[in-house]
Amino acid sequence: MPLPRSLSVTSLSGLDDWTEELDVEDAVLFEIAWEVANKVGGIYTVIQTKARLTAEEWGENYFLVGPYMENNVRTQVELIEPPNAALRRTINNMNSSGCKVCFGRWLIEGSPYVVLIDVGFTAWSLDRWKSELWENCGIGVPWFDREANDAVLFGFLTAWLLGEYAAQCEEPPHILAHFHEWLAGLGLVLCRQRQLPVATIFTTHATLLGRYLCAGSVDFYNNLSNFNVDKEAGDRQIYHRYCLERAAAHCTHVFTTVSHITAIEAEHLLKRKPDVVTPNGLNVKKFSATHEFQNLHAHSKARIQEFVRGHFYGHLDFNLDKSVFLFTAGRYEFSNKGADLFLEALARLNYLLRVNHSEVTVVAFFIMPARTNNFNVETLKGQAVRKQLWDTAQTVKEKFGKKLYESLLVGQLPDVSKMLDKEDFTMMKRAIFSTQRQCLPPICTHNMLDDSSDPILNCLRRIGLFNSSTDRVKVIFHPEFLSSTSPLLPMDYEEFVRGCHLGVFPSYYEPWGYTPAECTVMGIPSVSTNLSGFGCFMEEHIADPSAYGVYILDRRYRSVDESCNQLTSFLLQFCQQSRRQRIIQRNRTERLSDLLDWRYLGRYYISARYMALSKAFPDTYFYEPQDSSSKKGFRYPRPASVPPSPALSRHSSPHHSDEDERYDEDLEAEKDRLNIRQLHLFQSRGKSGSPDAVP
Ligand code: UDP
Ligand code: G6P
Ligand code: GLC
Repeated sequence: MPLPRSLSVTSLSGLDDWTEELDVEDAVLFEIAWEVANKVGGIYTVIQTKARLTAEEWGENYFLVGPYMENNVRTQVELIEPPNAALRRTINNMNSSGCKVCFGRWLIEGSPYVVLIDVGFTAWSLDRWKSELWENCGIGVPWFDREANDAVLFGFLTAWLLGEYAAQCEEPPHILAHFHEWLAGLGLVLCRQRQLPVATIFTTHATLLGRYLCAGSVDFYNNLSNFNVDKEAGDRQIYHRYCLERAAAHCTHVFTTVSHITAIEAEHLLKRKPDVVTPNGLNVKKFSATHEFQNLHAHSKARIQEFVRGHFYGHLDFNLDKSVFLFTAGRYEFSNKGADLFLEALARLNYLLRVNHSEVTVVAFFIMPARTNNFNVETLKGQAVRKQLWDTAQTVKEKFGKKLYESLLVGQLPDVSKMLDKEDFTMMKRAIFSTQRQCLPPICTHNMLDDSSDPILNCLRRIGLFNSSTDRVKVIFHPEFLSSTSPLLPMDYEEFVRGCHLGVFPSYYEPWGYTPAECTVMGIPSVSTNLSGFGCFMEEHIADPSAYGVYILDRRYRSVDESCNQLTSFLLQFCQQSRRQRIIQRNRTERLSDLLDWRYLGRYYISARYMALSKAFPDTYFYEPQDSSSKKGFRYPRPASVPPSPALSRHSSPHHSDEDERYDEDLEAEKDRLNIRQLHLFQSRGKSGSPDAVP
């Protein structure tokens, strides 16, 4: 018998160690999700960032399963022959029975194996499978719901894959299949119904009903236990989807979700309490130079400033060096993602900055994909005008430089009045004339298809934020995810985040919320809420989150108006910070990144997997999660020095350079690390070692 493989999670800057042992050498892990190699939202981020750790742990026995999408495969996947003989036979058999299943390596960190299934290729089976679903499970899927049809095809095909794989193995296999979200859930239900030798995990990243209810005007959190779930699902015409989701949650050996707040929601709406909460991590990259991320901020900010120069051409009556860049980003769910609250707070902030004669200008970006037919002319023109001004300046500079050089060569100081000729002035005047503009700088960068009914645009019309020169808050709505190949703002999302000052995510419905977590690991402060999984997690683990640049808005116990005032005051405080205070705060924010690293949070997935194996194959595996009642949670202490509030911090002096600030910060960071270590030593005296002991 092979030695038990020890799977341990290493200690990170004082966070505790955790070691569990279970011999999983002979088990095979399939992780199944619609967002494998297919970016839609945060589930893609879960799978993609976790891949390296899981691949390290499971090696050749780890397979991701997702949908085959031509475009994604072409750009992200290297197609190869399966190295595993049983899987090779499985795929060959399926392909010779009218399926299209491909195998390859997903070209991301960890290079995990992927099995990609073309659901469209097997659409001819849809009616037959739907009848089977109706007969065996009593779930009827209407013809017009395309997403649900895909879920049926994907479910039957993944169950086919797992069943065939089990049949192809020479020894009785120990298959562990981890399904994410309702779109992949039917495969799990079918595995159980067909009694396949598969240990199953179902992770829900939201509940369907929760998302739908919150998007309406419902007091969701105060009525969780009162909803008539069948009726509510029926009223919203998602009863069949809801049934698929609930069936998966009930059939699975181990049910998990991403946060405690969603665990409570699942208990009420899906009627099963999750067995494990698996908070979402990230693949944290550490730079060898501690301040590299600050340099990246400065570099990316300069690129955003260039874009802003073009966007506001002819109206650049504000100082870009005193401008603060705020942004929100994500799927376009106007109220669930808190875009409504953010806009309202911006209107109030605009008023406050104006009455206080503040020198600060806020540029707020909304990055939320909506239906468009490409960039609008005015926006593209802005960048063209900026480029023309730049080119003109370069041409004049070159001529100027040449004349200067020639004059120095003959030992004379130049006559500055003769350095530029009439032609140069004409060229410069023409360039300046081209910056004249009859309209205000545009709010939206694209032509919207639903302009008159778009919630962001309508809200801006109502609150009167139009980018006029008196406004201290300017708004730019970019209704498309960012891309480094964009002709307008050629930056990818990560670069853009690094260049901003604050991410604002005042969500009302947010099971986890990767966007503020991503800000944190990049050292960019953010606003989240105590209704988001991330916000609650940070509140639980940090004594004074706002000192670390993690502002958590109270949307649970306050009215909408009160929450909006709180958000406005966060934003105003942030705008009042000096550059030095922002630098200090970014350093503190970045220091939290270990807490969000999969190397630390991966333990919950490990625990869920062991639990599922021991439930499905009790003769082979035994795993008992350690008692979590004696645990003591870890908390980041308050930072060693005073919080970077405008009132408390020392004024920057002309002699106090960025280098000095870095030095101060290194000292402060060291003090904090010592504090954390001491606190941890103190706490670990009573530590149980259970995976629940930390978050
Ligand atoms: N995102 C992106 N490009 C953008 C804006 C957002 O790739 O221009 C990503 C972001 O990095 C994050 C994901 O979209 O990982 C959104 O995940 P989140 O959990 O915040 O929300 P979800 O969309 O899953 O509800
Ligand atoms: C980073 C850079 C500094 C720069 C600063 C700007 O810290 O290392 O050189 O001065 O960013 O900060 P700000 O908050 O004004 O964008
Ligand atoms: C869902 C949730 C989001 C979460 C993501 C990953 O899409 O809306 O809050 O971060 O899944 O778990």
